[in-house]
Amino acid sequence: MAHDLQAGLEAILRKVPVIPVLVIDNLGDAVPLARALSGGGLTVLEITLRTDAAAECIRAIRAEVADVIVGSGTVLDARQLDLSEELGCAFAVAPGATPSLIAAARDHAIALLPASATTSEAMLLLEQGYRFQKFFPAEPSGGAAYLSSLASPLPQVKFCPTGGLTQDNAPSYLKLVNVATVGGSWMAPRKLIGDHSWAAIANLAQAAASLKAAA
Ligand code: 3PG
Repeated sequence: MAHDLQAGLEAILRKVPVIPVLVIDNLGDAVPLARALSGGGLTVLEITLRTDAAAECIRAIRAEVADVIVGSGTVLDARQLDLSEELGCAFAVAPGATPSLIAAARDHAIALLPASATTSEAMLLLEQGYRFQKFFPAEPSGGAAYLSSLASPLPQVKFCPTGGLTQDNAPSYLKLVNVATVGGSWMAPRKLIGDHSWAAIANLAQAAASLKAAA
């Protein structure tokens, strides 16, 4: 293997029980949002590259919010890996995995967290050297019961389940031995961001940060 494809990623994933998955439409919301989340104790953020403002939001947060670790999300191709590195992201998250994305990741230093949703997908990624995988979309794919079933045959793989998680169902994932952390958008819904309800977001973040990972 040319290099450690997930260098530094384990320490980042284990830093917090929950990684907020953020969709930010307006640049002006980025810094106050990041401050609200980190103030609540969530210091690892995934900023999805789904909006026109995403790149500038990452730049602003990296420049102005010192205590957060920023990763990019919804990374689909080599160009977005390039962009993630250019923006200084600490990691990049993909909602799945394609042969071309996996090939491109070999030529990039940034740690990639690719996703699987089935046993075979998890095995294919493990073959490529990915011990840390996003499990997406977690709830529709079988939820905590499905993920729990992978722990025995695939003990080497640790997951970050994302997709449909809430404050209420996150503990059912966090108690699994094969879950490193979970991801979700529930503490930063678009409506609260749009309303600039930073105190409400900080409260939701604080509740999420108080959850405990078992693994
Ligand atoms: C996503 O990519 O949208 C995330 O996985 C977040 O899922 P959620 O909005 O269901 O938490």
